[in-house]
Amino acid sequence: MTGTDLPAATTEPAMLGVEDRNGPSPITVDVQLDQSAWSTHLADQTEEGLRDDPPWIPPVWFYDEPGSEMFDEITRLPEYYPTEAERSILAEHAHDIASITGVETLAELGSGTSDKTALLLDAGQQSGTLNCFSPFDCSEEVLRRAAAQIAGARPGLDVHAVVGDFHEHLHAIPTDGVCVIAFLGSTIGNLDETQRKEFLANIADTLDDDDWFLLGTDLAKSESVLLPAYDDRAGVTARFNLNALSVMNTELLADFEVGEFRHRAVWDAEASRVEMQLVANSAQRVRFDALNGLELVLGAGDHIRTEISTKFTREQVESELAEAGMEVQRAWTDSGDRFLVTLSRLTRQN
Ligand code: SAH
Ligand code: AVI
Repeated sequence: MTGTDLPAATTEPAMLGVEDRNGPSPITVDVQLDQSAWSTHLADQTEEGLRDDPPWIPPVWFYDEPGSEMFDEITRLPEYYPTEAERSILAEHAHDIASITGVETLAELGSGTSDKTALLLDAGQQSGTLNCFSPFDCSEEVLRRAAAQIAGARPGLDVHAVVGDFHEHLHAIPTDGVCVIAFLGSTIGNLDETQRKEFLANIADTLDDDDWFLLGTDLAKSESVLLPAYDDRAGVTARFNLNALSVMNTELLADFEVGEFRHRAVWDAEASRVEMQLVANSAQRVRFDALNGLELVLGAGDHIRTEISTKFTREQVESELAEAGMEVQRAWTDSGDRFLVTLSRLTRQN
């Protein structure tokens, strides 16, 4: 999702900003997403994807409230190693991150429940520098809940939540003092190469000279580890994937017969990515009343691609960051070399 063709209304935060003040810590909720413009944008993008061959959808359809809860369940599955691997890196190095950066504002893109972020908040508060946390997500309910929970648990921390699209609204990140922008969980792997390039260039444009970019990326590894992570025995990932069809039934007035689709995870070695797909068990004709009456015709065995999850090498991460004008200052992996966390800043112009 590039977001570049969003209607101009969403770029007027003053008109859309909403402030909530409650509890011991101040919470500001800055609503950058104009719901009707966002719906139109997602509808346009979905229509483009469904007209492609094979058809695909943008992954935001996963993250309604039940979908976000299912994602949370995924992060606790024995097969889904990325969350634990990244958590172990943050547990070991959060204090290094706080002391190297002197973080005053921590912004977290695609923050979800901000569960692992507690480690960074603890370290930043203990080092005495952190005074503002800015969780940033397009899923408003989940964001509001996380922001309220964090503000309640951390008196003295200013919580400035942004309901926004990280392809479009990075300008809404509060930039008081030294800012660390965190993008955890390898959510960057859900973007294709073109989207990553544009996203990283936007990050570099947002950073000041004394700011930092903290990026979590999942590393390429054996298919025998990757595929179970996206096709778990308990079937939670399958439910998470199929839920996107129910969300489109509601939001796009579609008539998917959810029971006629099955979840599949495929490893594409050439592109170094796991693809999540939904395969039609029988011939399907799906109508989308909110997409100009679009009809999606699938034969038995045809699929819709619902997500890509790119797996990186350290060199690739460094080179994509360098291409965007950022330089890795520190990099950490977990004990099993499964996951990488890099801390970068703008390339010095001497
Ligand atoms: N960072 C968390 C959650 C990852 S799930 C972790 O590491 O576990 C991905 C999150 O990104 C979801 O909360 C989803 O709502 C959010 N998201 C997806 N696309 C987004 C976009 N374009 N702009 C803002 N948030 C987005
Ligand atoms: C959010 N994102 C990084 C997850 C991933 O691993 O690509 C989403 C997910 N899809 C299936 N399981 C988890």
